[in-house]
Amino acid sequence: MTTKKEHGIEANNQEFNRYEQVQKDQSYKLVENESEDQFDEEFEIETCDIGLFLHGDENDKREFSQQLGEAMEEIGFVILEGHGIDDSIYKEGEKKVKEIFEEVSLEERMKYVARRHGSVNQGYFPIKETTIIHPDLVEGWVFCRRAFNLENHDYKASDFWPEGNFEPFFRKMVLQHEALFTPIMQSILTYLGCDPHLYDQKLTKTNFGFRLNYYPPLKKEDVASGAGRMLGHEDVDLFTILPAQSVDGLQVLNRANGKWIRLNPPKGSIILNTGDYMQRITNNRLPSTTHRVSKPRKELFGEPRITFPTAVYVWEDEFLDVLPCCGKPKYESIRAETFHTRITSKYYGDEYADK
Ligand SMILES: [Fe+2]
Repeated sequence: MTTKKEHGIEANNQEFNRYEQVQKDQSYKLVENESEDQFDEEFEIETCDIGLFLHGDENDKREFSQQLGEAMEEIGFVILEGHGIDDSIYKEGEKKVKEIFEEVSLEERMKYVARRHGSVNQGYFPIKETTIIHPDLVEGWVFCRRAFNLENHDYKASDFWPEGNFEPFFRKMVLQHEALFTPIMQSILTYLGCDPHLYDQKLTKTNFGFRLNYYPPLKKEDVASGAGRMLGHEDVDLFTILPAQSVDGLQVLNRANGKWIRLNPPKGSIILNTGDYMQRITNNRLPSTTHRVSKPRKELFGEPRITFPTAVYVWEDEFLDVLPCCGKPKYESIRAETFHTRITSKYYGDEYADK
């Protein structure tokens, strides 16, 4: 009998449509397929200078909001420059991620194996166990807000992190990313014609999922197995902040023509994309865009791929309501945790969802 995971190599996303909490008409195979997939070589993902918003006057802010909003509405992905975060922190981050996944023993990592806490499955995900529906060739580790020494007085790093003093370093990184949450949301709300400050409070000290991804070097048998680095998916969040990676592979589905766009952003830039929460509150205006991680150029098969995306959430008890500027609601109000876990039970099993 084929397991759900083995079946994933052949599966189409629409088989899992019953889990979705926003309308998704796009149809794609979960895994890349070199002979069947078509590529869009023409579409260029927009680069936007967020420095205009962070340091500019009212006109600059409007200009950035317009550019960002249009790109988000058309494709759901943009490249941000001018964010002011020094690239050296990402270089250092790659080294730390290697340490965690290459030097900390598997036994030690397994002590932190992922478990649901609130909306999010938090902790360590062994290779091929990112989801139950597809054998992804990646190891991951999800750290939510509570994994950082921020506001919690009983905080103990060893509850979340293996030995090696990793938390202070990654805390620095997440705080730099956190400083972008409100400006990004304000820009999007400005573009949509809403009160730009509507989400200021919800996003102040909000929850997030900071994920370390370690895609080990590809072995021949991995390539032959038909598994990919990460299955096609949409993010379950408001938006995701992803520092540009040094090993290529990220691809974005262009819903307009069903072709995949290869994304190769410049070093030091940050990729921003919208997720399911955003599609829900914007009444489908800003779509949650499908993407995947494919194998890199052949000469990079021997290199691990390392990324650190931050998924931005609202806390479990917040409600996701269609924004007042987005027309007659197609969706009813829903508690964030219910919304989140109904979707992610596709990856973790039906019992994961809030009833
Ligand atoms: Fe993603």
